[in-house]
Amino acid sequence: MNKGKKLYEGKAKIIYEGPENGTGIQHFKDDATAFNNQKKATVEGKGVLNNRISEHILNNLNQIGIETHLIKRLNMREQLITLCEIFPVEFIVRNIATGSLTKRLGIADGTILKRPLVEFSYKNDDLGDPVVSKEHILEFGWIDSAETLDWIIDKCLRINDFMQGMFRGVGIKLVDFKLEFGRANVKRKILLADEISPDTCRLWDVSSEKKLDKDRFRKDLGNIIQAYQEVARRLGIIHEETNISEVKFGKPKVVNIKKK
Ligand code: TMP
Repeated sequence: MNKGKKLYEGKAKIIYEGPENGTGIQHFKDDATAFNNQKKATVEGKGVLNNRISEHILNNLNQIGIETHLIKRLNMREQLITLCEIFPVEFIVRNIATGSLTKRLGIADGTILKRPLVEFSYKNDDLGDPVVSKEHILEFGWIDSAETLDWIIDKCLRINDFMQGMFRGVGIKLVDFKLEFGRANVKRKILLADEISPDTCRLWDVSSEKKLDKDRFRKDLGNIIQAYQEVARRLGIIHEETNISEVKFGKPKVVNIKKK
């Protein structure tokens, strides 16, 4: 499928114009970043795995009535999507306290939350994606109305319920994750957008609590690709004998590390 012009390049993905009005092509890169771009590396094969894992999860969500931007996966690294204007808000859903929540509020790492916690951060790299309240989102018009915001929060909780069950069934705890939503350029519907993958979720093995997500990169735990492959295997996306395409999974090449 012919790609149109590049519309946007982010840290892990590139969006091109798609073949028809209102469509785009989402390309998954092997680049990994953490701490707002201060730590960067190329992790060979990551884009291929995230493309497959995100396709699997978004297709499953679609089957339970969550409308997403994914039309279909095109090849190893690309998906055909409905282009959206992404709301500048990241929706973080947490089941177990870890990461920035523990640092910000002094909550013990691993605390099981009584109810899923939804947090919002303002998507702005210069400001380091600060945590904001519902009132900030409405005051500054990042999302048009309280009804839309509540509708999205409801979807976040539904997605959490579904994904928690899906991962639990394959021996993985869904600790937390990030979602992005947008309004379709042409049809103006609100769609779940971006990706859901080990880059955007924290996934712990149920018995060993081994981290099977991007924390392996953030915390220099090694074996990043092996962990992402393990998630893909458990979800039944790739099989034991599958060597995801011709991609060789080498050691991540560190491009730049500035420790905070
Ligand atoms: P945090 O604990 O660093 O706030 O991260 C919460 C969840 O959101 C975690 O699963 C990782 C994901 N996340 C992203 O996908 N992108 C981001 O830029 C950040 C900061 C977190």
